[in-house]
Amino acid sequence: MARTRILFRCRTCGALQQRWMGKCPDCGAWDSLEEEAADPGAARDRQKGVVEGWLAATDGDPPPAAAPLATPIARLADADEAERLACGIAELDRVLGGGLVAGSAVLIGGEPGIGKSTLLLQQAAALAAAGHKVLYVSSEESPQQVRGRAQRLDAAQHEGLFVLSDTNLARIVEQTRKVLPAALVIDSIQMVYRGDLDSPPGTITQLRRCASDLVHLAKASGIAVVLVGHVTKDGQLAGPRMLEHLVDAVLSFEGDRSHAHRVVRSTKNRFGTTLEIGLLEMTGRGLVERPEGALASAEAASESRPGSVVCPVMHGTRCLAVELQALTATGFLGAAKRKASGVDANRLAMLVAVLEQHAGMRLADRDLFASAVGGVRVAEPAADLALLLAIAGAERRKALAPRTCAIGEVGLGGEIRPATHLEHRLREAQRRGFARVLIAHERSVNLPAVEGVEPVMVRSVPAACEELG
Ligand code: TYD
Ligand code: MG
Repeated sequence: MARTRILFRCRTCGALQQRWMGKCPDCGAWDSLEEEAADPGAARDRQKGVVEGWLAATDGDPPPAAAPLATPIARLADADEAERLACGIAELDRVLGGGLVAGSAVLIGGEPGIGKSTLLLQQAAALAAAGHKVLYVSSEESPQQVRGRAQRLDAAQHEGLFVLSDTNLARIVEQTRKVLPAALVIDSIQMVYRGDLDSPPGTITQLRRCASDLVHLAKASGIAVVLVGHVTKDGQLAGPRMLEHLVDAVLSFEGDRSHAHRVVRSTKNRFGTTLEIGLLEMTGRGLVERPEGALASAEAASESRPGSVVCPVMHGTRCLAVELQALTATGFLGAAKRKASGVDANRLAMLVAVLEQHAGMRLADRDLFASAVGGVRVAEPAADLALLLAIAGAERRKALAPRTCAIGEVGLGGEIRPATHLEHRLREAQRRGFARVLIAHERSVNLPAVEGVEPVMVRSVPAACEELG
C-alpha cells in the first residue's frame, strides 16, 4: 500500500514544500506552511468526485449546455456568440465583457465590508428579473439576513432568485442540481468546505479543492459560477490570490469604505478586456451606477486650485476626466516621503526627477503626496503632464488658469509627447466644461477640432510650467 506522504503547502502562494520551514522559500511569507496529505491515488479519486456525482445524478445524459470535449475548430462557436447573461447593471456587465458567460467561473475579490454581497445580490436579482434562475448561496449569512438585505435593495420579490445558506459543498451541489440555475453565486468561497477532506474548513487545502470543484461544475453544467473571496487590505490573504489561475475571470471590487464610490475592475478576463472599469456608488438602497464617475469634482473645471490638474484618461473604451492631486510638505533631505495613491510610484519618482532637472525645482527635501481622485488607478503615461503640473503647482502654490486641463506624456529629456485617442479626450474635456487643453502635438498630424476647446501647445516641461500663473 502506498504510504501517505505529508507535504507542506504555503497559505500565501500555494507552493508545495517537502518539509516544514518557518519561511516559505517561494514567496517569503513567515509561518505560512500548512500540512497537507499527498496521497496521489486518493487525490485523483477526489478530484472528479463532484462532477461525476453530477453526471450520475442526471442519468449520464450530458446536462444542458455542456460543452463537448473535443470539437473541430471550424465548428466551434465564435467567442462573441458565447451565451452571455447580461444582468443589466451596465457598469458590471461592461467589466465582464458584456455579461456572465455560461459555464464560466468568475472570482470577485474585495476587502470585507466593501459591498461584494450587495453587488452580487443586486446582480442576482437583476438576472432573476430578466427571467433567469439564480441560486445565491450565502455561507456567511442566514436566509433571513439575505432577505433583509434584498428588501433593502428592493429585490425580495423575484421568484427566480433562490437563496441557500450552507457551507457544505456536497449539499450546495445537490441543491444546485435541484434548482438548475443559470448562475450560481457562492458568497463566500472561504467558508465552503468538503467533508471528506482532513483539513478543517478555511484552510488552503479546502479552499483550493472546493474552488476547483466548483470550476469543474461550471464547465460540466454550463452554469455560470461566481465566487466571492475576501482580500485583506494589502491583498495578501491566501484565498483569492491562489484561486486566480483556476477561474476564467477575476474581478476586484475596490473603494474606500469611508467613501461611497466603488470601482469594479477585472485583473484577468478570458472573455473580454481587462482595461474596462465599472463605476458605482454605495447608497442607502444599494449600489447605483455612476458612469460619469466621481473622479473630477464638479468644481474642478470652473475653479482652479494649486496642486490639482484634470486629465481625460482612457479606461478601455471609455474616457474619464480624472483629477490628479499633489501636495508637498517639509521633509528631510535623504528621507523625503513619496506617497502615491492611484498613480504609479515609479512614474511619480520619474516626474520628480524631470522637474528637478528641467524646471529647476528642488524637491529632494520635500515630502510629496500624489493621488488620483475617486479611487481610480491611472496607469496611462498620458496623465504625466497633469501630474507633473499638479506637483509643480503644489510646490509653487500656483494653479493653471480656470477651465484648463492637460494631456501628454513626459519624457526624460523634459519633452512632452502626444497622447493617443486625442479626439476622444478633447470631447470628454468639452463635456466636462473645459475650455483650454494643454497638449503636445506633432505638426504633421491633423489636430481634431472640438468646438469650444482651445488646444494650447506645450512641447517642453519649462513651457508647461509657465502655464502655472
Ligand atoms: P456587504 O455587501 O455586506 O459587504 P461585503 O460582502 O463586501 O463584506 O456591504 C457592506 C456595507 O455596505 C455595509 O457596511 C452596509 C453597506 N450598505 C449600504 O450602504 N447600503 C445598502 O443598501 C447595503 C445593502 C449595504
Ligand atoms: Mg459579504
